[in-house]
Amino acid sequence: MKMSKKVESLLKELTLDEKIAMIHGGALFATSGVERLGIPPLVTSDGPMGVRLEFEPNEWKPVGHSDDFITYLPCNSALAATWNRELARESGKVLGEEARGRGKDVILAPGINIKRSPLCGRNFEYFSEDPYLTQELCVPFIQGVQSADVATCVKHFAANNQETDRLTVDVDVEKDVLHEIYLKAFKAAVQEGDSYTIMGAYNKLYGRHCCHSDYLLDDVLRKDWGYDGVVISDWGGVHDTIEAANTSLDIEMSVFSNFDEYIMANPLKEKVQNGEVPESAIDEKVVRILNLMEKLHMLGGERKRGCYNTPAHREAALNVARESVVLLKNENQVLPLDINKLGKVLVVGENADVCHAFGGGSAELKVLYETTPLLGLKSHIGGNNQVIYTPGYCRDLDGVNPVDWRNIESEDVDKNWQESSLEGGGGSTMKEEQVDAMLAQRRVQLREEAVALAKECDTVIYVGGLNHFYDCEGSDRANMKLPYDQDVLIQELLAVKPDMVVVMMAGSQVEMTEWIEQAQAVVWTWYAGTEGGNALAEVLLGDVNPSGKMPDTMYKTHTDCSAHAIGEFKGGEKVTYKEGRFVGYRYNDKFDVAPLFPFGHGLSYTSFAYDDLQVNREQGVISCLVKNTGAVDGAETIQVYRSEPQTKDSLVKELAGFEKVFLKAGEEQKVTIAVENMTEDSNILVGASAGDIRLGIKGNG
Ligand code: GLC
Repeated sequence: MKMSKKVESLLKELTLDEKIAMIHGGALFATSGVERLGIPPLVTSDGPMGVRLEFEPNEWKPVGHSDDFITYLPCNSALAATWNRELARESGKVLGEEARGRGKDVILAPGINIKRSPLCGRNFEYFSEDPYLTQELCVPFIQGVQSADVATCVKHFAANNQETDRLTVDVDVEKDVLHEIYLKAFKAAVQEGDSYTIMGAYNKLYGRHCCHSDYLLDDVLRKDWGYDGVVISDWGGVHDTIEAANTSLDIEMSVFSNFDEYIMANPLKEKVQNGEVPESAIDEKVVRILNLMEKLHMLGGERKRGCYNTPAHREAALNVARESVVLLKNENQVLPLDINKLGKVLVVGENADVCHAFGGGSAELKVLYETTPLLGLKSHIGGNNQVIYTPGYCRDLDGVNPVDWRNIESEDVDKNWQESSLEGGGGSTMKEEQVDAMLAQRRVQLREEAVALAKECDTVIYVGGLNHFYDCEGSDRANMKLPYDQDVLIQELLAVKPDMVVVMMAGSQVEMTEWIEQAQAVVWTWYAGTEGGNALAEVLLGDVNPSGKMPDTMYKTHTDCSAHAIGEFKGGEKVTYKEGRFVGYRYNDKFDVAPLFPFGHGLSYTSFAYDDLQVNREQGVISCLVKNTGAVDGAETIQVYRSEPQTKDSLVKELAGFEKVFLKAGEEQKVTIAVENMTEDSNILVGASAGDIRLGIKGNG
């Protein structure tokens, strides 16, 4: 193995105990160091949207000081919606500096699993259904992070595409599909992005746990891809000492504090001592860890210090959020709103007034502030207009605690509950149907209030969607339906206010078919970080021209997605990806299943014309003219799809290139775009989305 003289000499000095201590958690988020040799612990932290709060070393208890507030970046899906490689680099740089500033060595990010289903609870932490878009954005993101002397840990390797039974589910997928769809971005992450570490996934693949899969870690990662970085298990992803020892897993982490009992702790030490496992297997792991520490300048030398929670980082987060907003529909030019003609404004919808940062599972963040849509709108509109807010719906009983809840069975409802409060044990648990009845009643009341207010307002903005009760690690949704009776509410509001602006805030697709025809203006936003509300307000008020494009197919319902239509997406022992390569739009194209909005869809307040497509097959590039034909400056992402001669198993097309260009009103630019894997036979399609092809040239095939 390659190693410096310093690493070589350290290895010679290390005892077996010390080596073992370096390859498993010695704290919840860190390994043990070897102080006598100047080897520090390797300190990690979540997550993809910011550096997680500080926990006590050995228990899931926040330290609780004021020094771990950080910048909350837009989620990876939001970043993907920008289609902007430079913003991805900038976002990564911010995350890296924040992690360094907080004294971390490894940030457990980015999440680059393919969004195989709209129901996966962790989609918000991932980029896209498309492997090319994922690779093109995660590579600069990784390079940005690592420019701050912090290692990324791309996750979760591999085929971790559902939360249902995530610790045990055994994924079966054809090998060529595995590489073409599910491993493609990981390969780019390690070969082009040079991610210093990678995280093994919880699930199994072909019957072996990913964290000690000889196929994934040895055959693919080390032999085929030549990866010499560090493999870190997901927290609790290691189950077999011999497999772990004999594959190139380097560090075992878990959620328990009995660190010496970890699979790669005392159990492994015993197997080395009794000769079952050669010490050389441990040495290989230790060398990779020491090589990582050298890359991060942890063993001496000048190391970047980073910084966190800074105005510059918040500005960067705002820029990403601005470009992540997607204008899905805009009839009759409802948007942008004219700030001088707003009149009385109603903002309705719980998501206008909710902070999401501290949710979602391991991606949770402790932020100094999170600008909600309501705050963003009111701070941009200012004091000349009355802006009122009403929730319109509620996720639960407004803080009413079922245990203390009044007993609704008492005949005399006017009687003060306290008088009978000592009867029958003095307390009861509300029955499920009582909660449901209470909630239904509450929602009718909120809906009626909202509709009444909408009738007396001039401008109505609805902000709904999901939250981290639904977009959350550890669970998948049952369907794409909007929760909390939002569909009824939106329809009733549109009935009195047809030009109501509908904003959906979520980390994965939702059903919109019940009201999408009625709605004239529909905007999609994400868990878009500490400045998300400001970015949304700037777009709605026209200060920013939206340029986001959906990184996923907006299905009408989840059964229009191949994972549910022809594949398996379920719990239990095994899940087979029967849909093969037909994931996302690949399926909808091939099987002619019309989406609500196509992959790559996103409108602008201006318009763009495409012309003069040229294909240079030798150089593997195309060029075309793009003109801003509208009255306002704007940005357009020109997408290039490649299609091969049609066979039963061939794709209709797949994304193979894109460039985002900023054009002033009336400006025309020649855009040159590299096209991946273009051959003489490739048909080239160029457009504004997978469903809006503007230009094309046939191949020779
Ligand atoms: C979690 C997640 C992983 C996270 C790790 C540490 O279970 O799967 O993404 O980085 O454990 O919190």
